[in-house]
Amino acid sequence: MAAPMRRSFRWLRPFGGRRPHAASGLPLLLGSNPAVLERVSRDVELRQEFISPEQEAAILRELEPRLQRQRYQREHWDQVIHGYREIEKAHWTEQSESIVQRLRDIAFPPGVPQLSMVHVLDLEKTGFINPHVDSVKFCGDTIAGLCLLSGSVMRLLSEDNDADRVDLLLERRSVYILRGVARYRFSHQILRDEDSFFGEQKVPRGRRVSIICRSLPLGPVSDTG
Ligand code: OGA
Ligand code: MN
Repeated sequence: MAAPMRRSFRWLRPFGGRRPHAASGLPLLLGSNPAVLERVSRDVELRQEFISPEQEAAILRELEPRLQRQRYQREHWDQVIHGYREIEKAHWTEQSESIVQRLRDIAFPPGVPQLSMVHVLDLEKTGFINPHVDSVKFCGDTIAGLCLLSGSVMRLLSEDNDADRVDLLLERRSVYILRGVARYRFSHQILRDEDSFFGEQKVPRGRRVSIICRSLPLGPVSDTG
């Protein structure tokens, strides 16, 4: 179903040197038009190889016992997230704590209030995240995620029209940060394995664990917000 759409879709490569590129020189963001790429890339940050394979393994060893106490949740067709289990984590070993702190340090300027609990989301190989905007009641301007175990494609879709979208290549052990426009005016999703293409490039999806830090909403938000 998605394949013909994908082919007819005109992916534009970023221009200029400011946007994130892989060490290979390939872009990490693809936009449906130059304007949306320009607009969104100001509010998206990607860092590859944020941690080493050894650090990744150590974090996972720390998470597995709690994750494995749960089953992956699959049944609810109307859920945003499919095939997942999750925990919130407050305390880490010293090594993991320093990685989480490094993530917070690059994502949030000093003094920005943050959720103290770190959200850990474990997607099974067939799991995926449908388009959504994180609730403004619980999450402020910035969402920062460290991606473990599998590469994936995160798609940002404009909340205002059907034409504007940007795909992010999220490699294993990389970090993404969404702020401002990318956080509020675009939904985000993680494509399922069948649809997991970055332009023409297949990005195989395996089990994926993300470690997500969020800033807190600044002011009081109304109940309808
Ligand atoms: C979420 C979400 C993205 C990720 O939990 O709201 O969008 O990287 N997660 O797991
Ligand atoms: Mn989200």
